[in-house]
Amino acid sequence: TSLVTYRKSKVSSSPIPLPYIKSKASNSSSPKWTFNRTLSNLIRKHILRFLDAERDISILKSTFKPGDVIHYIFDRQSTTNISENLYHLLPTVSPMKNQHYKQCAIVGNSGILLNSSCGREIDSHDFVIRCNLAPVEEYAADVGLRTSLVTMNPSVVQRAFQDLNSEEWVQRFVHRLQSLSGSVLWIPAFMAKGGEERVEWAIRLILLHTVNVRTAFPSLRLLHAVRGYWLTNHVQIKRPTTGLLMYTMATRFCDEIHLYGFWPFAHDPDGKSVKYHYYDTLTYHYTSGASPHTMPLEFQTLHALHRQGALRLHTGPCQ
Ligand code: CDP
Repeated sequence: TSLVTYRKSKVSSSPIPLPYIKSKASNSSSPKWTFNRTLSNLIRKHILRFLDAERDISILKSTFKPGDVIHYIFDRQSTTNISENLYHLLPTVSPMKNQHYKQCAIVGNSGILLNSSCGREIDSHDFVIRCNLAPVEEYAADVGLRTSLVTMNPSVVQRAFQDLNSEEWVQRFVHRLQSLSGSVLWIPAFMAKGGEERVEWAIRLILLHTVNVRTAFPSLRLLHAVRGYWLTNHVQIKRPTTGLLMYTMATRFCDEIHLYGFWPFAHDPDGKSVKYHYYDTLTYHYTSGASPHTMPLEFQTLHALHRQGALRLHTGPCQ
């Protein structure tokens, strides 16, 4: 059994000044948005100094064997093993190898999507990324149906599928997985301890029902590299959210990136209340206090990039 430890990424030691993130470009939320290809290419280049999403999106079969010990990224003293089943589902090549898309949509889970009628627009992108197995069928008009890649924090099994505590919840979970057919299922299995069993259940069900998904398990360096990129740009995030992780990775394989469902605020610009998630009853209390995320700061950063045309944030209803 080999000890797999986190190896420091090959980050250039000199800080790179990237003025675009802090830049106080005009504050007006002008409805006119044009894509800034030059800036978007520059961001891709800078992020590549920290991580290569084509590689870091998943560890590969060739690098591990069943039984290998992994230290959790946020709980370094705790370890888990590469189980036989997990090994079985490791990709042999990167699921994003040589893939490039003109327009990608990243769909966050904010309630701002409700009554947005953005479903069709979201689905019109070449590649659609979703977070945490958020339901789509019941909300298709607002969030669309298409999924090219979806993330699944292990905690989702507990939060959205009642820890599979009855046959009915198992069926619902399997149904959700089966509806993904062909897309990438990205499981951050080694971030924080506590999700080991849930990851194993999910993997077993995928194998048992021969679910047609391409599983990916982020590299052990990804999180530090993403955080490093933003910290170098003086964005003091604690732990990047799934949404920010997806944006940072998507710069590698997408030209134009459109974000929907990113709104970490309890009210919309007109003062109407906005649900934390479009599909459940979690409230903003959930993010306060002990939460390791700094969503409003992330939002500000993404908004600065939106103003400069590097990405497009959609926060209002679609046509
Ligand atoms: O895994 P995590 O808790 O970060 O994410 P989530 O609650 O499933 O939502 C997916 C992503 O949508 C988040 O990571 C945020 O980037 C974004 N989000 C947002 O901007 N505003 C909200 N009210 C909720 C989520």
